[in-house]
Amino acid sequence: MQSPVSSPSSSALFSPMRMGDITLQNRIVMAPMTRNRAGQGNVPSTLNAHYYRQRATAGLIITEAAQVSPQAAAFPSTPGIHNKNQVEGWKGVSSAVHEKGGKVFMQLWHVGRINPNCPVSELTGIVNDYRLAAINAKIACFDGIEIHAANGYLLDQFLREGSNPRTDGYGGTLKNRPRLLLEVLDALLTVWPANRVGIKLSPSCILKGVDDTDPQALFKYVAQQLNAYSLAYLHVEEGHEAVMKYGADGLTDTSALVPTSFFRDIYEGQLMVSGGYSFENAQTAIANNEADLIAFGRLFVANPDLPARLQKGVHLNEADPTTFYGGSEKGYTDYLSLR
Ligand SMILES: Cc1cc2nc3c(=O)[nH]c(=O)nc-3n(C[C@H](O)[C@H](O)[C@H](O)COP(=O)(O)O)c2cc1C
Repeated sequence: MQSPVSSPSSSALFSPMRMGDITLQNRIVMAPMTRNRAGQGNVPSTLNAHYYRQRATAGLIITEAAQVSPQAAAFPSTPGIHNKNQVEGWKGVSSAVHEKGGKVFMQLWHVGRINPNCPVSELTGIVNDYRLAAINAKIACFDGIEIHAANGYLLDQFLREGSNPRTDGYGGTLKNRPRLLLEVLDALLTVWPANRVGIKLSPSCILKGVDDTDPQALFKYVAQQLNAYSLAYLHVEEGHEAVMKYGADGLTDTSALVPTSFFRDIYEGQLMVSGGYSFENAQTAIANNEADLIAFGRLFVANPDLPARLQKGVHLNEADPTTFYGGSEKGYTDYLSLR
């Protein structure tokens, strides 16, 4: 158990907020988290639906990353959104959240070179896979989608010098490297209105070789481009702290850090942040207008009713990292809510 959080609060964190044409019941977001518990064929199961149902008091749930095609996958038991069975499975998730009054976006994922069998030279096909996945997310009755352009996966690989050796229109210059992300975004906007689409970036992440000599120049350009779209939100995963805690390939260089204030100054839309937020610094970030929404990852793993616990100022359960990835109910749906 962690120490008690501060006294019960009427913080702006708990007030409803408008995001495009939908109203979120609070500003507390469940961050996307891969849990490697999808059923056979990478189809979301009733267990997965139950897990999300338990967490439906979040203002917004962003699902674990869902692969947009078979080649977009690299890890066992991670859900896909590229065939009929998967769409049916996801319908169980969206309806479970909706029945409890929650809102849920699906995070769309392509791992890129993390899957050694993935031919990423085939960009037109990949953009189309994203588009089809976005159609599927709509058929599966999601409220919106989040493009996973973070944490060293395909779109992040394209953004960064360290992982993008291309010499064509998708590599080299600052303007070329974000091209794939923007093409994917344009394709998704043929399916969804902009105010139902979010993008996740992790500018300070240097996992999987996605380092960059000038991340500030890169992300300034990206944020400026995104200003043209009126998206639901821009989600920025901050710092290295979370990554180190949930077990990554190791990183220590802090010179690449891009602070949230950097995005607040450049990005004109709603800003969501995640990465090691406690109740206290989440409240401060909202009160000081540093962000509009706070996404909690590990706290939501261990506290299905996180908003109620924060509001009442009661103890928080601590997440067990040994049950993050894979397994079944243990460490997944067996964390208790308050009575
Ligand atoms: C178990 C686990 C799985 C994660 N999987 C994803 C994922 O699928 N997509 C993603 O964008 N971020 C993923 N993340 C990062 C979280 O979305 C979040 O940004 C990060 O955990 C920092 O928030 P926290 O400190 O509140 O946990 C994952 C984090 C954890 C702990």
